[in-house]
Amino acid sequence: MRKNKLLQGVKIPRHIAIIMDGNGRWAKKRMMPRSAGHKKGMERMIGLMERAFELGVQYITVYALSTENLKRPKEELDGLFDLFRNNFREAFGKVCEKGVRLRALGDVSLLPEDIVQVLRESEKETAKYEGRGINIAVCYGARDEIVHAVNAAVEKGEKVTEESFAQLLYTKDVPDPDLIIRTGKEVRLSNFLLYQAAYAELYFSDKMFPEFSDKDLDKAIVNYSKRTRRFGKTDEQL
Ligand code: FPP
Repeated sequence: MRKNKLLQGVKIPRHIAIIMDGNGRWAKKRMMPRSAGHKKGMERMIGLMERAFELGVQYITVYALSTENLKRPKEELDGLFDLFRNNFREAFGKVCEKGVRLRALGDVSLLPEDIVQVLRESEKETAKYEGRGINIAVCYGARDEIVHAVNAAVEKGEKVTEESFAQLLYTKDVPDPDLIIRTGKEVRLSNFLLYQAAYAELYFSDKMFPEFSDKDLDKAIVNYSKRTRRFGKTDEQL
């Protein structure tokens, strides 16, 4: 494992969730089309996933497309869908074949049919893997997820507990994120994992996503490791 000095003895989060913000601004600054920023962002995402797994992270969730993003101009969305069509299988296949389960979180039915098929096939092919996972939040909104879960509970006619409710969310069977990283200088969650983020540590980076390096990820993990997670208890109770 490529563990540098910075990471010696550091506590590695089990689950990291990432809000990949800043692709568009990264491209604009370089007078490139937004699609070039998304392409670079997707490449960076794969690199970060490889680094995270190498360090012992077990789950990575990436906010690839929010329900709100679906209102973007058709041209940008078509570009994102083409990027997915041209790169997903090879890029994610390479990571997943090392024993990583892929899950799509969100209302996938809002995507073009061929993309839904690729996602469903990848989920099926990797369902045999346990212990490590990549979750792609796509057409995802936390409020939508919660409403969806409430309706499922109502349909069942059963009262829920925190645990049984969690099983109705898109993240069913995935542990809550320990660390949520957002790039792109914004300091908000933007409807991402609102139920699951109850005790997550938050880390915000001023870097635009395409320039968030493996070293930046290492730094975020070191920063996480220095925090005391009390989960509502006192220092003495820990
Ligand atoms: C944020 O940058 C990034 C996105 C909205 C989309 C990124 C998604 C991919 C690269 C993967 C595509 C995958 C699927 C399944 C379609 P931004 O455009 O909000 O950046 P800005 O805030 O600088 O404008």
